[in-house]
Amino acid sequence: MLRKPVIAIDGPAGAGKSTVARMVARRLGLLYVDTGAMYRAVTLAALRAGIDVEDEGALAALAADIRIELVPAEDGAVRVYLDGEDVTAAIRSPEVSRHVSAVARAAGVREELVRRQKSMAAAGGVVMEGRDIGTVVLPGATAKFFLTAREDVRAYRRYREMRGRGYPATLEEVCSEIRERDRIDSSREVGPLVCPPDAFILDTTAMTPEEVVEAIVARVGEAR
Ligand code: DC
Repeated sequence: MLRKPVIAIDGPAGAGKSTVARMVARRLGLLYVDTGAMYRAVTLAALRAGIDVEDEGALAALAADIRIELVPAEDGAVRVYLDGEDVTAAIRSPEVSRHVSAVARAAGVREELVRRQKSMAAAGGVVMEGRDIGTVVLPGATAKFFLTAREDVRAYRRYREMRGRGYPATLEEVCSEIRERDRIDSSREVGPLVCPPDAFILDTTAMTPEEVVEAIVARVGEAR
């Protein structure tokens, strides 16, 4: 029997990674792992504890100390628990979004979360989505994808998502927030957002989620 595939999906904010990764996981019967949710959970915990997001030592200690669970829900989505509390909605707040890149820059936080992510994928059968999955977390993945889209399209997708959650953001605010986040995520020293050299690049600007899923599933089939 073929070993269950391990699929890595990276890319900037709003490229469509979460939607597509969830759909691919459902289609192929794999576990979906949203690593951004883990960085968001650490950020929420840090904000609640009053930890300065520039204090790397305190962030690393916090990351090592908290329990983060990603529990698959019926509809293919994932519920996120922080020390047993459902924080699925709380980790998507504008405040967490504003601070998450600073937290994700801390080397000690990355080390801890990367270790957990590697162990989640150890048995195979996962679709993992983030910024450093193909490069750092799963360098030996069955297939790697890098999703991109034009900046205004990515901003609009995030804007729609925020409005859908009831946050009254303007398109301009969302655009400048994701631009700043991508800048920090791409320029950090540890695990920056880069396109893995062996990744299949998909520009999703004019693609529907279904089309992106088809492209990924076809490529995974070829790679196995
Ligand atoms: O995918 P997202 O927007 O929920 O990710 C939130 C932040 O987490 C993003 O700005 C960068 C960080 N992140 C990371 O540094 N490494 C990952 N593997 C996933 C997310």
